Amino acid sequence: MNIILLGAPGAGKGTQATRISDKFGLPHISTGDIFRDNIKRGTEIGLLAKSYTDKGQLVPDEVTCKIVEGRLAEADCKGGYLLDGFPRNLFQAQELDKFSKVDAVINIDVDLSLLMARLCGRRVCKSCGESYHVDFLGGKTTCERCGGELYQRKDDNEETVGNRLQVYTEQTQPLIDYYSKKGVLLNIDGVGAIDEVFARICAALKK
Ligand code: AP5
Ligand code: MG
Ligand code: ZN
Repeated sequence: MNIILLGAPGAGKGTQATRISDKFGLPHISTGDIFRDNIKRGTEIGLLAKSYTDKGQLVPDEVTCKIVEGRLAEADCKGGYLLDGFPRNLFQAQELDKFSKVDAVINIDVDLSLLMARLCGRRVCKSCGESYHVDFLGGKTTCERCGGELYQRKDDNEETVGNRLQVYTEQTQPLIDYYSKKGVLLNIDGVGAIDEVFARICAALKK
């Protein structure tokens, strides 16, 4: 099954993606993770992407679409994939339709007013990528899953989160309508415990 995870910054796409990917055996493809990996390695794509991700703007469509098209053509995507953070605007959605067929779009719905606090308090594991929130870490600085070091993403500050939320509202939110019209949209209430949200996703996918 080819699945897309849609949702505002901080809605829980990455958090749920780890669980969906484990349960259904689908490769988790996050364009944000791909850009951060390139930035860390100092590649040409990384140098370009950094100027956009630091400001909370979208990396140009030509670059992003080419990366995703190439990634979906790899062998591990033959049996399906889980896309996290792509597409993010109408152009990307239309491009994706040209090189792949989408079976389900999971829209994780969270009121935007909750997201600033979620993102500014987020800590991410350097080794396995798991996300945490400072409110629940009790001062711990290492990952519960793998012991890796936790860090704060460079774009998780008030100013950049503000931009990311605006970009979401203007460019990404219209995709809810786009996929609803295609009859593939699954709307999931993203407020509640992480396991509860995951259970809602599994139930919706079963149908
Ligand atoms: P990306 O990395 O995709 O960031 P994002 O969309 O802003 O989303 P996040 O990763 O911040 O949030 P998430 O929904 O994964 O939430 P998480 O599970 O971590 O993109 C980064 C940048 O890359 C973009 O700004 C852009 O520049 C560029 N980019 C990426 N894709 C692109 C594209 N297609 N085109 C162009 N540019 C692109 O959870 C967040 C926090 O909430 C955590 O602390 C977590 O513990 C907590 N949490 C999770 N679930 C719950 C819950 N149920 N209750 C309470 N807290 C929860
Ligand atoms: Mg994410
Ligand atoms: Zn870890």
